[in-house]
Amino acid sequence: MNDNDLVKLAFDAKEKSYSPYSQFQVGAALLAKNGDVYTGCNIESASYSPTNCAERTAFFKAVSEGVTDFAVIAVVGGQKGAEVGLCYPCGVCRQVMAEFCDSDFKIIMADAKGEKHVCTLDDILPYRFGPSDLQGGHS
Ligand code: THU
Repeated sequence: MNDNDLVKLAFDAKEKSYSPYSQFQVGAALLAKNGDVYTGCNIESASYSPTNCAERTAFFKAVSEGVTDFAVIAVVGGQKGAEVGLCYPCGVCRQVMAEFCDSDFKIIMADAKGEKHVCTLDDILPYRFGPSDLQGGHS
């Protein structure tokens, strides 16, 4: 599973987006260290706050199946009908990444033209609070 394969799966997942309120469609494909891939889309709610982002859908699917070690996530998103530009994970999703992922966890943002921005968890959420903080120290 290379980066382009994962981006393709994220685009496929975006097609499943349930986003009647924002019309903003997001897809994610999460590669676990065991080689399995979990996809997710954003799922909105008429009462708005239960909305779940595509990235968290993918993480929660994996964790609920007993998989908790992750290597890479690809994220794509954009307004329905418009060309997809780079879509960065929201702060809540970054915090979920911090729960399960190491500093070098790779995050791929891709657009419709095939351009990619690749970064790590350390890049997008430095100085984060995480599991080790509850064990008495920041690592
Ligand atoms: N959204 C995601 O799925 N992932 C993100 O990282 C950013 C935002 C979704 C949530 C909501 O359904 C829509 O995009 C607009 O915020």
